[in-house]
Amino acid sequence: MTGEEEKQFDSYLEKYLKDPHVLKMDEYKAHGKNSVLSHSVDVAKTAYCLNRDLHMHADLDTLLTGAILHDFYLYDWHDARLFVNIFKMHGYTHPAKACENAVTYFGVNDDVQEVIRCHMWPLTLRSFPKSREAILVCMADKLCAIRETFDR
Ligand SMILES: [Fe+2]
Ligand SMILES: [Fe+2]
Repeated sequence: MTGEEEKQFDSYLEKYLKDPHVLKMDEYKAHGKNSVLSHSVDVAKTAYCLNRDLHMHADLDTLLTGAILHDFYLYDWHDARLFVNIFKMHGYTHPAKACENAVTYFGVNDDVQEVIRCHMWPLTLRSFPKSREAILVCMADKLCAIRETFDR
């Protein structure tokens, strides 16, 4: 990213990275050694760069809000005591929980909700990403998960 791009990127995320609910994501582990918060910032950066490189002309507010909140489920999915089979269920259920929290804490609009709800496709078969923002976050999430898993 150029300096200008970084400034633009930061301006969209500023509000979220100051919020105590969002900062709580730093307490939960994502893939490898990364916290959910650092994973989410990585996904936002990757989505931003994919949008630029693929000339997708996404709405940056929808794209980056959806990206930073896509895993805003606020629990430790490694904690098997939380409920039975959470390890198996988490992949299917966390987009809905993240979406619910994003609406509760930030009142995000339908476009952002779609980005969050569809990011696990094709695992969540019926939540197919239809907007360009949802497609970009879905792709960025997979790229980051692969990178983080091999980067232990
Ligand atoms: Fe996720
Ligand atoms: Fe993710």
